[in-house]
Amino acid sequence: MPEPLLDVRGITMKFGSLVANEDVTFAVNEGEIVSLIGPNGAGKTTLFNCITGFYKPHSGRVFFNGIDITAKPPHYSARLGLTRTFQIVKPLKEMTVKENVMTGAFLRTSGKKQAELTAMEILELTHLAEKSDVPAASLTIADKKRLEIARALATRPKMLMLDEAMAGLNQTEIKDAMELCLGLKRKGITLLVVEHIMEAIMPISDRVVVLNAGKKIADDVPENVTSNEEVIKAYLGERYNAKSKKS
Ligand SMILES: Nc1ncnc2c1ncn2[C@@H]1O[C@H](COP(=O)(O)OP(=O)(O)OP(=O)(O)O)[C@@H](O)[C@H]1O
Ligand SMILES: [Mg+2]
Repeated sequence: MPEPLLDVRGITMKFGSLVANEDVTFAVNEGEIVSLIGPNGAGKTTLFNCITGFYKPHSGRVFFNGIDITAKPPHYSARLGLTRTFQIVKPLKEMTVKENVMTGAFLRTSGKKQAELTAMEILELTHLAEKSDVPAASLTIADKKRLEIARALATRPKMLMLDEAMAGLNQTEIKDAMELCLGLKRKGITLLVVEHIMEAIMPISDRVVVLNAGKKIADDVPENVTSNEEVIKAYLGERYNAKSKKS
């Protein structure tokens, strides 16, 4: 067995007396799309923050590509090839779309020309090329979400972590986002995706990790997760039923 690309071991994160992540262990293998799901407040974003060094967990360790990145600053992990997006999009509004993406590219180059070339390549890939010179502030929510992904991609990640990149999108935009995820997988980029839109992520996920009240309650292929009684009770309920989808 090759070692996993991302190896999360026994992460516990507390805010005062609230245990937001409790002894969470899971791994993501190179080339996989793994989704992280669970009810509001389950601890998904907190776990992202622990993995990418925005929080220092109370206990547990995080390894990326065999290197211990626990509590290392986000730019350290980004340099190793692990980048994330944020649930609340925050483009640099006064900058153009291209300039925003260039801020990502500057992780790997100090040359403006090179950063611009990288940005244009990524803007093509994410279907934002036509809007490269407009101010980021003027983008629709769907394009802002795409820009967030583009900026992360410009850092040339091995692995990308998306926190609700599809929230607020319409059906067509969700389909585009699914295609983009599958396209990134084909390019060899590993994905860890937090999402509430089951119809969008179940079909593209190799594996699904479920959090509830800070604890991992399932870690399996989508078919098994959607028929897992505990997961249905805690989260899926009537929201998504794989069996009814197939019939
Ligand atoms: N900085 C913080 N300080 C105090 N409590 C926090 C902080 N961040 C998160 N929490 C709490 O930790 C718990 C987990 O929150 P988190 O944002 O990780 O959930 P989530 O699974 O991402 O939810 P959602 O699906 O709504 O985005 C919640 O009870 C939340 O109120
Ligand atoms: Mg969240």
